[in-house]
Amino acid sequence: VAKGDAAKAQKIVNDICGACHGTDGNSTSPTYPNLAGQHPEYITKQLNEFKSGARRNATMAPNVAKLSAEDMVNLGAYFAAQLPKAKPAKDPALVAEGQKLYKGGNAGSGVPACASCHGPAGAGIPVQFPRLAGQHAKYVVAQLKNFRTGDRANDGGKMMQTIAKKMTDQEMRAVAEYISGL
Ligand code: HEM
Ligand code: HEM
Repeated sequence: VAKGDAAKAQKIVNDICGACHGTDGNSTSPTYPNLAGQHPEYITKQLNEFKSGARRNATMAPNVAKLSAEDMVNLGAYFAAQLPKAKPAKDPALVAEGQKLYKGGNAGSGVPACASCHGPAGAGIPVQFPRLAGQHAKYVVAQLKNFRTGDRANDGGKMMQTIAKKMTDQEMRAVAEYISGL
């Protein structure tokens, strides 16, 4: 895989991505995912999938339409190099419940421990498994629901579909709250 040149992505970030994801990859709205510190390969893969339509999203589709393969590699390098900001979780009871699921899964329903793929501290495991630490709870819940309905059916998403289909709404809320504070 070619190594990205973060500096070459700056203009695109200023003109397009920064408005929603923050020029430093820390978004201010919980609808828009944080990209700071995410693995570059994962970012590039998602951009390619938005462009091909493998990951369907009406908001992202027009933003990637004109990006070249090289732009997408450079954007991955750019956002991966940004520093994630610590974001404290809010609800302690929900956090405790979420932590239990994140670290130990739910043996009864067959939900595996999230930590086994996303890492004990949510840092992810390059190149396949994305960083989750500090992600907006609202975005995490939205993606888990997209996996559960099959709406997010991109490559790699199949793994998450199987898991999300076994999760309750309450488990999604709890684990998302925990993840948001990692
Ligand atoms: C998702 C990058 C512009 C709104 C994403 C993701 C990436 C990304 C990598 C997936 C994140 C993940 O899976 O964790 C970019 C880049 C942009 C750009 C590089 C500039 C070229 C924008 C703009 C908006 C936006 C301008 C708002 C108008 C969103 C939303 C999602 C998203 C709503 C979540 C999509 C979903 O629910 O599946 N973006 N983005 N992005 N982005 Fe962007
Ligand atoms: C992606 C949550 C367990 C493999 C994701 C995403 C979320 C998530 C929110 C989307 C990230 C984003 O859009 O930025 C969880 C939770 C888990 C869990 C809450 C535990 C209940 C696992 C396990 C595996 C796994 C056990 C491996 C067997 C993946 C992969 C992706 C992903 C490969 C990336 C999909 C893609 O390429 O688009 N996960 N996960 N996850 N997860 Fe998990």
